[in-house]
Amino acid sequence: MADERLVTPARVDDDAQYEAGLRPRRMADYIGQDRVRAQLDVSITAARQRAEALDHVLLYGPPGLGKTTLAYVIANELGVAVRTTSGPVIERPGDLAGILSNLQPREVLFIDEIHRMPAAIEEILYPAMEDFELDIVIGQGPGARSVKVPIERFTLVGATTRAGLLTSPLRARFGIVQRLDFYTAVDIEEIVRRSARILNVELVGSAAGEIARRSRGTPRIANRLLHRVRDYAQVRADGRITPEVAEGAMKLLEVDRYGLDDVDRRLLTTIIDKFGGGPVGLTSLAAATSEEPDAIEDMHEPFLIQLGFLERTPRGRMATARGYEYLGRPMPGRGLF
Ligand code: ADE
Repeated sequence: MADERLVTPARVDDDAQYEAGLRPRRMADYIGQDRVRAQLDVSITAARQRAEALDHVLLYGPPGLGKTTLAYVIANELGVAVRTTSGPVIERPGDLAGILSNLQPREVLFIDEIHRMPAAIEEILYPAMEDFELDIVIGQGPGARSVKVPIERFTLVGATTRAGLLTSPLRARFGIVQRLDFYTAVDIEEIVRRSARILNVELVGSAAGEIARRSRGTPRIANRLLHRVRDYAQVRADGRITPEVAEGAMKLLEVDRYGLDDVDRRLLTTIIDKFGGGPVGLTSLAAATSEEPDAIEDMHEPFLIQLGFLERTPRGRMATARGYEYLGRPMPGRGLF
C-alpha cells in the first residue's frame, strides 16, 4: 500500500527526485552522524592508501536517515563506481551472480533492504564476500559438481532497517557495522539550510528551526517538508520562508509540533484506550489499529520511543507518562500533571 503520510520516513515517489539533487556526494558535505562519519573516514582513507577494496559495510537504522546517501559517499570517496540493487528485486541466483561477476576491482555493490533477500540468493553472497569467489553448480543429481569462479575484490554495502533481521552468517561477514541514529535538531536544521541554498529559497530567522523540529530527526522528512513549505511561501506569501510562513504551512499540512501525524497519535491512543496503557504485543497493536506490524516497528515506534512517549518492554509496548501528557490524558494513579 502506498504510504500517503507527509511525515512518513519511507521513501515515496517524489523523494527520489528531491534526493537526487540534495544528496551530499562527499563526506565533507555529509552533515551529522559524527561517529559513523569519523569511523568510516579512517577505514576509507586506509583502504585508499593501500589501494585495496574497503571491508564490507553494513548500515542499519530507521528509514530516511541516509543509508543510500552514505553508500554513494563511500564509493565517491573510494573513487569507484557504485552498483545498486535491493534484496526484494533479486529474484534468481543468476541475477546476483551476474552482478557480482561484472564488478570491477574495488567497486561498491549497494544492496538496500538486504534482509529481504531470499535465502538461496543470500548463500551466493557468502563465498563472494569472504573469498571473492562464486560457487557455481554444474549439472544435477549425483553427477553435479561445483566449480569456483573468481570475481574481483569489491565492497558490499548492505542497508537494513534493523540489524537483527539479518541471518547471523550474513551479519558475520561484514567487517564494518554502523548504526545510523536520528539526527539532532541542530544537524537537521543545518541540512534544511543546505537544501534551501541548493533550492535557492530564502529562509528567514528561525524558519529552518521550525521545519527541523517537525522532521522527526530524519533528513528525508526535512527535505520533503521544505519542498511543501516552499510551495506555500510562493502561493501564500512572497516566496521567502519566514517562521510565520513555516508555521502556516505546517498547520495546513496538519503536521504537529513534534512532527507526529494521526497514525502516530492513533497508536498511542490505542495503547491507552484499548489496552490500559499497555503492555501490549505488536500483533495485537497492529490488529487494533489496522497498521502493518512492520510499519509500526520500523517507522512509528522508533521515533515515539525517541520522544519518550512509548516504551518497549519484554512484555510489550507501553505508553509513558510523557505519552499521556502529550495526548492530554491523565495517567492512571498520577493525575494529569
Ligand atoms: N541530505 C540528506 N541527508 C543528508 C546529510 N546527512 N547531510 C547533508 N545533506 C543531507
